[in-house]
Amino acid sequence: MKINENFLKIQNNYLFSDIAKKVKQYSAENPDADIIRLGIGDVTKPLCPAVCDAMRKAVDEMSQESTFRGYPPEWGYDFLKSAINSNDFASRGVVLSDDEIFVSDGAKSDCGNIVDIFAEDNIVAVCDPVYPVYVDTNVMSGRSGELSGDGKWSNFCYMPCTKENNFVPEIPDKKVDLIYLCFPNNPTGMTISRDDLKKWVDYANENEAVILYDAAYEAFITDDNVPHSIFEIEGAKTCAIEFRSFSKTAGFTGTRCAYTVIPHELKRNGTELNALWARRQATKFNGVSYVTQRGAEAVYSEEGKKQVRETINYYRKNAGVIYNGLKNLGYEVFGAVNSPYIWLKTPDNLTSWEFFDRLLKGVQVVGTPGSGFGPSGEGYFRLTAFGSAEKTKEAVERIAKL
Ligand code: MLT
Repeated sequence: MKINENFLKIQNNYLFSDIAKKVKQYSAENPDADIIRLGIGDVTKPLCPAVCDAMRKAVDEMSQESTFRGYPPEWGYDFLKSAINSNDFASRGVVLSDDEIFVSDGAKSDCGNIVDIFAEDNIVAVCDPVYPVYVDTNVMSGRSGELSGDGKWSNFCYMPCTKENNFVPEIPDKKVDLIYLCFPNNPTGMTISRDDLKKWVDYANENEAVILYDAAYEAFITDDNVPHSIFEIEGAKTCAIEFRSFSKTAGFTGTRCAYTVIPHELKRNGTELNALWARRQATKFNGVSYVTQRGAEAVYSEEGKKQVRETINYYRKNAGVIYNGLKNLGYEVFGAVNSPYIWLKTPDNLTSWEFFDRLLKGVQVVGTPGSGFGPSGEGYFRLTAFGSAEKTKEAVERIAKL
């Protein structure tokens, strides 16, 4: 028996587990410390009433023999796929069929699992900094090569996103096969314009590459020129897969519901990727619970839409409090406008982890070190807007005392 030795290449823990461990240790050593957690992007507001009502009703149905349901369809119930289609796509002029939408338990799982349908020798392009899941899952599945001294994997194509390019990656000067793009971006909180995204779509179509487009933070977009879906861009259906989530949109981080869109037009080697993913999911996944999918459907009801919007606006205000507060303190800050993430330059040339320690030990505020997202994240730091309004305000006041 042999293990998958690619796992041995990943030396560190998953970034957010590492942070949790450090905070736990600090907390054990300082039991009275009142820690404000603005690290992992986990929501704090409860599920909205429309979602809870729909879930309660679904629980009642599950309690009666006449309305009980067993295994859900592996790709999602029709009622949810149809609500997603009309609200998230048709309303923006994007024409999809319901069977191009696959309901799942999370965008993280889908972003990680999608690598199953691609050959091992594809060249992977990632933004730097980047959501660590894209990198780690490709290391695990053997696409990375070796880790070099600069913190980069030898087979990956890194696309730096820095303030010099306004955190939008430049088209690679070599041929790549799988391109991970995330907009609004995690971790920088920055966005891409329709024109810039069109350049990526053209590149992918010309080079037979596939764009894996993570739009988990789409609900935070306020700017009209920022696309909500890559399928708003002409030509995207022949080169892109899109990941969406109810986590940040409607507080489903603990409830788990998301979806992935793979158009039938997306073919490689004459094969529809939609069919490969359908086969993969049918074999390895048993669907999202009926109760959860009824809850997700309610996000699109009139009440649901209104309530979800209120919560997003609440987080948006927090983002503004952090962004403006830090700016007034002289920090260089980015993101926040179309995103729940605030990306800042560390002061005094501190490394990301040095600043993490200074914040935790000095004022008991937890954030995420930029270097944890990749080499170009060094010297940066991420804060989230998902805390309570009171704690968010207090965090900025505490940082002012540093
Ligand atoms: C983050 O903090 O980057 C997110 O919570 C990660 C995730 O959604 O898995």
